[in-house]
Amino acid sequence: MSDHPIIRAGHPVLRQIAKPVEDPTAPEIAQLVEIMERQMTEAGGVGLAAPQIAVSKRVVLFFVPDRRLSGLDGDYPLPLTALVNPVIEKLGDETDVDWEGCLSLPGLRGLVPRHTHIRYTGYTPEGEFIDRQVSGFHARVVQHEFDHLDGVLYPGRMTDLLSLGFTEEIAARMEEEAFAAE
Ligand code: NI
Repeated sequence: MSDHPIIRAGHPVLRQIAKPVEDPTAPEIAQLVEIMERQMTEAGGVGLAAPQIAVSKRVVLFFVPDRRLSGLDGDYPLPLTALVNPVIEKLGDETDVDWEGCLSLPGLRGLVPRHTHIRYTGYTPEGEFIDRQVSGFHARVVQHEFDHLDGVLYPGRMTDLLSLGFTEEIAARMEEEAFAAE
């Protein structure tokens, strides 16, 4: 498992239901997470799922940086966390819409509705059981990465496909809007 580049939309592994991991503490899982961490960091992402390096296993990696926090209770910064066999439960019916990108759709952004509040569980590669109730961006990144395990990329969750665009164009418009608002 030395190479494993990030694969892009169109690759069949991204459409598959990933397989549960029998033993989250197996050395091969620690090795997989190490490769995922290297690829994610090189690409400048905040999350990566194993299918994105063509490994069809239920393993995700993510962190929650300060700069992305929504200000909601339950949206708190989180250092890099690997989760094996994660499970998500939505808490309430509230949703919010925000921009998302994906390392498997490089250069693009789209507006994606997600549940505002969720609970998620799973195991770390050290065997620790994680059980958290989170909101906002934290909830968003977990839902995005979890979707990869079921073969879903974020455009599949978009309700306004016309908002799909290139990051450079969207960022330029946002700057213009910011100036216009001043
Ligand atoms: Ni993604």
